[in-house]
Amino acid sequence: MSLLSSIEWFTWFTYVAILPVCSLFGWLMLPFVFVASITANIFVSIRLLRDFTCYMTDNLISNLSQPGNDMNDNNGIDEMFASTREALEDIFPKASNKDIERYERQINEADDLDPVLIIVGNQNWINQNTYATYQAVMTAFATNNLQNNQRRDEGSLGVFHFQNMTELYTVRDNIRGLYPNAFFDRNAQPQQEPIGTAWILVKVGVRSSDYAVDSSFFVI
Ligand SMILES: *[C@@H]1O[C@H](CO)[C@@H](O)[C@H](O)[C@H]1NC(C)=O
Ligand SMILES: *[C@@H]1O[C@H](CO)[C@@H](O)[C@H](O)[C@H]1NC(C)=O
Repeated sequence: MSLLSSIEWFTWFTYVAILPVCSLFGWLMLPFVFVASITANIFVSIRLLRDFTCYMTDNLISNLSQPGNDMNDNNGIDEMFASTREALEDIFPKASNKDIERYERQINEADDLDPVLIIVGNQNWINQNTYATYQAVMTAFATNNLQNNQRRDEGSLGVFHFQNMTELYTVRDNIRGLYPNAFFDRNAQPQQEPIGTAWILVKVGVRSSDYAVDSSFFVI
């Protein structure tokens, strides 16, 4: 059609003709400016409509050619792993939406593949040992091996972000030395319940996580 697109012609025309003429003739040009403004709106609407149609068509073609796949090319991570939100809802079935969102934000800040330890408190243990003692043990998980009042739990006392698995299990062993009665000991008399259930979660994608309960975490 031409070397310039309609929009470019229109912009050029605005600066070269419309604006100078407007300045010269002032309010006499008002009707013309009005028409120009409507024309500009029509141009932009047509363009947006066309782009939107292309987007929908691409999406449909991609859906037809790869049934079950979405548009994101993330090597199927979304299908192999649960979303972090689903993982948290599974781990904390009783938590409020607000708490889940808070934990999710905390985990989303971690780097991919960083291990996250999640401890769900055991109410029987808390009843026997007081909530203050429970908090002391969780604070130990949050601060052990860190310097200068740093914490790995952002104050959550339940979601602990580690650099790697070695660090995670080193801290667990340290806490076992400091608070042995937080752990379940088969041979102890009387029997002592574990302080909670430990889950290990690894962030594998933007919002995806691999996770599992570690049933021997709190066993001596
Ligand atoms: C294509 O699939 C995605 C997710 O599978 C869906 O969100 C989207 O609406 C689908 N698009 C069309 C045009 O069917
Ligand atoms: C794990 O992280 C700690 C602390 O950042 C670091 O000192 C250690 O070398 C790391 N170990 C491995 C196996 O990456």
